[in-house]
Amino acid sequence: MSSPAHTPTPAPTLTLRGVAVFKGWLDGAAQQDMLEDLRGVIRAAPLIRPETRFGRKMSVRMTSAGRYGWVSDRRGYRYAPHHPAGGAWPPIPASVLAVWDAITGLDRRPDCCLVNYYDADARMGMHQDRDEADFDWPVVSVSLGDSALFRIGNIQRGGPTQSLWLDSGDVLVMGGAARLVHHGVDRLRAGSSSLLARGGRINLTLRVVD
Ligand code: SIN
Ligand code: MN
Repeated sequence: MSSPAHTPTPAPTLTLRGVAVFKGWLDGAAQQDMLEDLRGVIRAAPLIRPETRFGRKMSVRMTSAGRYGWVSDRRGYRYAPHHPAGGAWPPIPASVLAVWDAITGLDRRPDCCLVNYYDADARMGMHQDRDEADFDWPVVSVSLGDSALFRIGNIQRGGPTQSLWLDSGDVLVMGGAARLVHHGVDRLRAGSSSLLARGGRINLTLRVVD
């Protein structure tokens, strides 16, 4: 069971299929500060291109911060306390935790900040975030860099979907009845942001794992 919110939570800009979207939550300076913190995370825990259970390389590069990281290899996917190359994950930066605190108003903080890096050709197939122990806790996502076309489906596989562009600084929440919606990223709009010197997009997802 989720603990009650300790502060009032802000109203989203829009809600699509139950997913709450906060457009432009982070201004340019906050995006720069967060990026600097994420550079530290990536130095401590380098991005890797995980394999799926079937031995196919994902197009997205990943790392994590927090007590747990999300990893995928031929054994399948799971949360793990160490980077695949060894060593504990670095702590979740305060700038990232501040977004969770402000958006969710929860006392409980996330155990994992999954960091996904998309280059211009990367995408992510439709999936649910369901490796966590308790779906009462929301998943909070932060977008930085190039805009991405984010597709939202249903709790069940298949059926109608709706898409929206996520721009740098946008935050969204999959929680409540929308905690287990299928979602994915169809494509990036290359060159739409100058935040990342080499282009591409960083997405953070914050999760309570256990
Ligand atoms: C994810 O579902 O893990 C990533 C979503 C996104 O990149 O916006
Ligand atoms: Mn996901």
